[in-house]
Amino acid sequence: MDSILVTGNGPLSGDIPIAGAKNACLTLMPATLLSDEPLTLTNAPRLSDIRTMTVLLQSLGAEVTALQEGKVLAMSSHGLTSQRAEYDIVRKMRASILVLGPLLARFGQAEVSLPGGCAIGARPVDLHLKAMEALGAEMDLRDGYVHAKAPSGGLRGGVIDFPLVSVGATENALMAATLAKGTTVIRNAAREPEIVDLAQCLRKMGAHISGEGSSEITVEGVERLGGATHRVVTDRIELGTYMLAPAICGGEVTCLGGTIDLVAAFCEKLDAAGISVEETEKGLKVARRNGRVKAVDVTTEPFPGFPTDLQAQMMALLCTADGASVLEEKIFENRFMHAPELTRMGARIEVHGGTATVQGVERLKGAPVMATDLRASVSLILAGLAAEGETVVSRVYHLDRGYENVEDKLRAVGAKIERIKSQ
Ligand code: EPZ
Repeated sequence: MDSILVTGNGPLSGDIPIAGAKNACLTLMPATLLSDEPLTLTNAPRLSDIRTMTVLLQSLGAEVTALQEGKVLAMSSHGLTSQRAEYDIVRKMRASILVLGPLLARFGQAEVSLPGGCAIGARPVDLHLKAMEALGAEMDLRDGYVHAKAPSGGLRGGVIDFPLVSVGATENALMAATLAKGTTVIRNAAREPEIVDLAQCLRKMGAHISGEGSSEITVEGVERLGGATHRVVTDRIELGTYMLAPAICGGEVTCLGGTIDLVAAFCEKLDAAGISVEETEKGLKVARRNGRVKAVDVTTEPFPGFPTDLQAQMMALLCTADGASVLEEKIFENRFMHAPELTRMGARIEVHGGTATVQGVERLKGAPVMATDLRASVSLILAGLAAEGETVVSRVYHLDRGYENVEDKLRAVGAKIERIKSQ
């Protein structure tokens, strides 16, 4: 398993390119199952999760060809041979559940392994199943798989009323509804930019969708969908992550392709912490010039609130703030695993249930630490950038799921960082 060695090296300056959104691409790829015509994605990120989704779609008989070193994904599911998503692939990546809605809608049946939990929580899929039932499907859970079956005439439109906001369940519902007979209304829908991006792609394929980005989405089912070419939206979580590099180290960095609308709630907190963010034609220019960051309180919420996927990274910044900050994690039940690792670097953090109180310190000290999940791993990298001395982050396979070339991107703005290949 590779590790990453980071050495605190003072202020950063320069440009960091931001890739296409992992969490948009992971729902846009299964959308190919809805049509027998080609779907091509551009601006796709080069990540291990994307490769896992590629293997999953290919296991169903879909064609997925990576072009331009993986930035373009040319896909087609005209020759599908299976509607069974096997456990040994699904267990590697929970987003595999997103083939359920498209398979049900196009083929009337699906067998999808239950994904199981992950480091940050139990991650149930009950809302995905309820959404499919609201469209007339029968769900049978046995031997660790969801055996789903649409009515003989296919899925039919219905009202899906989510008791809590779920990004993935909204995506499954939206994709399934495009081919359901009649009208579907999705209430308490997730409003994330990745949902908007999916709706825009589905509309290019011929879907009739309105209301995406609001908490109520309406879909008029159609007989069939065609092909399309779609550019994956910029990754707002990678954007926010790299905005924190100059915030924690000092200096000035422009995150290319970034726009305020993708990270508005996050920028409000950066502003309160004394970090300046300016939208330029190149992207978001972020600078910290004078003195320590100020302590701020953060509560994670569904979009447009503060994203849970930036909580760990924000905690790294607040470990060096002047004062005490309170972070409330309201989305997942176990998303503070980076705290004990940051504590090894001299951070002062007290965790009680879903609340972490961080007492800022002048400077963190480099130490060997361990990545536990995707966003925790990058928060340790950020902490290491600002810490005194060397930090070695182990188990960086977590990092490679969601960040391409993190060491190259940070080295290009002056960070001292290198990957240590495992023997
Ligand atoms: C998506 O996960 C993202 N993943 C996550 O990003 C992100 O943290 C999350 O949305 C919240 O924004 C992808 O898009 C691939 P949810 P998802 O359904 O869809 C509960 C990252 O770091 N819930 O919105 O799985 C669930 O347990 C990853 O890139 C149910 O109870 O998240 C959680 O508490 C991590 N039943 C809450 O809802 C369900 O059926 C929100 O989960 C589904 C979810």
